Amino acid sequence: APISAPDLTLCGDATITGSTEKVFCCPPTSERIIDFKPPRFNKIRYRPPAHQVSPQYLAKFERAMNLMQGNIPGGLSEDDPRSFKQQADVHCAYCNGAYPQATGSTKTIQVHNGWLFFPFHRLYLYFYERILGSLIGDEEFAMPYWMWDNPAGMPIPAIYNNNVNSPLYDSRRNPDHLPPKLADLNYNGTETTLSDKDLIFSNFNVMNKQVIGQRFPSLFLGQPYRAGDDNPKGAGSIEAGCHTAIHRWVGDRRDRQKNGEDMGNFYSAGKDPLFYAHHCNVDRMWNIWKNFPGPKRCDFTDPDWLNASFLFYDENKNLVRCKVSDCLDSKALGYDYQIADTPWLHTRP
Ligand code: C2O
Repeated sequence: APISAPDLTLCGDATITGSTEKVFCCPPTSERIIDFKPPRFNKIRYRPPAHQVSPQYLAKFERAMNLMQGNIPGGLSEDDPRSFKQQADVHCAYCNGAYPQATGSTKTIQVHNGWLFFPFHRLYLYFYERILGSLIGDEEFAMPYWMWDNPAGMPIPAIYNNNVNSPLYDSRRNPDHLPPKLADLNYNGTETTLSDKDLIFSNFNVMNKQVIGQRFPSLFLGQPYRAGDDNPKGAGSIEAGCHTAIHRWVGDRRDRQKNGEDMGNFYSAGKDPLFYAHHCNVDRMWNIWKNFPGPKRCDFTDPDWLNASFLFYDENKNLVRCKVSDCLDSKALGYDYQIADTPWLHTRP
């Protein structure tokens, strides 16, 4: 049977990966749950690469984030399920054992390390983007993505590195990895010795292998995870590879933050605004994988995947139940990615 949406009233403390400490990151509960309906829209939202946005776009995005963080008049209070803090907690609760799989079960829900990874994060971003848009009254607002697979986009995008009153800034990042340093998509905790030119080539190889090299959904999307399983059965290539590398590369040095906060630990990752740009690019890889010309790459057709479900608060504070099958086509969700160069599509490792 599929993993089903948690009962929010059963939410408990979450763990911190690599620590014995506990943290509380449960969302507000709601009496009423509505089922997801595909959005109606006139225009597709095109998510732009974060290193190329215009000053006008940046002003709009920062205003939306300031409202979400409650930094300016008219902003959300912390207990609003749409607030920046509550949204970060969504990730913490789904990733760190806050939800039992069923009443009385000792097994918890984990959206990482398996086939729920792509759909969970897609839906999470979908609501995040709509909340931002609704806060500024812009129904076409699209979030930026961090294009770490392209040389020009490899450093942390400048808009996230402005430490003067920017709602996109987070001081809990590794100070050795700030711009213009290029991200290392193979990062495992040790600094690379490659020159920039070689690092770019190495990053292309990582991308080619982790996207194009994976023909089967279990290798790309991740291994099965069903109701009653103790744990998901293994991460797909992107999740285990460049996705985790970026989390660790951005997260702070352990001598400054003991659990690698913010990006370097599941419980805190959503507290860094850069998380959402990072995950947009991860999500973009799902589209690239499916649309790659040549032998068709297909999603799972297993009903235990298609019917797995999650709960999210939408831009109107409704609690919405979504299924994996609701999110397979990003265009049906009303968004896509601005076309960009993917030089690694044709480099062969
Ligand atoms: Cu939910 Cu990048 O992790």
